[in-house]
Amino acid sequence: MSTPGSHRVAVIGGDGIGPEVVAEALKVVGAAGVGLDTTEVELGAAHYLRTGEVLPDATLDELRGFDAILLGAIGPPVGSTEVPPGLLERGLLLRLRFTLDLYVNLRPFTGAPGSVAGDAELVVVRENTEGTYAGEGGFLRKGTPHEIATQGSVNTRMGAERCARYAFELAQGRDRRHLTLVHKTNVLTFAGDLWQRTVDEVAVDYPEVSRDYNHVDAACIYMVENPARYDVIVTDNLFGDILTDLAGAVCGGIGFAASANLNPARTGPSMFEPVHGAAHDIAGSGRANPLAAIRSAALMLDHLGETEAAARITKAVVDYTAGHQPGTAYPSTVAVGDAIAERV
Ligand code: IPM
Ligand code: MN
Repeated sequence: MSTPGSHRVAVIGGDGIGPEVVAEALKVVGAAGVGLDTTEVELGAAHYLRTGEVLPDATLDELRGFDAILLGAIGPPVGSTEVPPGLLERGLLLRLRFTLDLYVNLRPFTGAPGSVAGDAELVVVRENTEGTYAGEGGFLRKGTPHEIATQGSVNTRMGAERCARYAFELAQGRDRRHLTLVHKTNVLTFAGDLWQRTVDEVAVDYPEVSRDYNHVDAACIYMVENPARYDVIVTDNLFGDILTDLAGAVCGGIGFAASANLNPARTGPSMFEPVHGAAHDIAGSGRANPLAAIRSAALMLDHLGETEAAARITKAVVDYTAGHQPGTAYPSTVAVGDAIAERV
């Protein structure tokens, strides 16, 4: 049970469909009986264009004080040239992931009826602070015919280990207790070796969890042909980014894909966001699917200790999706939110 307003949540609606889907997520949380003390925080492409600010230090400090952050979507319309590429990704989203040490990007997938995935039920544990995302590298001789660009993959033993440990803990608590490391150890013989050795060593503490290894290219085939083979996948940042878009597509569409950027050590707030982007093309049309945002809010409640309400919301989303006639359109954003709110 929760008392009204017992969790302090920063809400970053952001751009495009972000505010619309977040509104539905908050509606469902309220219907589930959990009181949140929410504070809206203005960030994103529109905020940048209005103020020239991406993520001021003062805002970052303010965000540190919350119990959780719920984010809709960040980004300018596709093709817009007003916001330099990478500015918001690196300066806002990745800066939050890195400075708040959100080292696990947890992405659960449930196959929707009629989707390629059938009744697959899997979770990807994506390392969220290292790899090629770390920002290592640079240019030499930029603008000359001899220009060089490098972008290294940073893999620390500590980073791989804490991520592997989280994934094993998760697998241990699931019915199938199965964990697959996805990497490219046959070519990335340094990073892959570190990951493989780390997972092998952590596995000793989890004898009940069965294990598998897939190269990432093969994992793409399996993800399309038989995603039900997976239970928990653990992988690095970039492979996890790509594989979770694919998993989203085969499980019914990216509009269903939820994510939790977790700081499992709880040294600060964790951040919850749908995997999809701002989709400016459908913003305001009522056609945005709020289910990814709603399921992300359930991940947030789970992290905040509201496990029972979280389970009810997740079940409502999964049941609602399962009852949907494949090939027919979903009702409006608000109507889907209402339908889930009624079920929780
Ligand atoms: C995601 C997104 C981000 C990523 C971008 C927007 C930086 O694609 O959350 O998967 O690459 O991690
Ligand atoms: Mn992505």
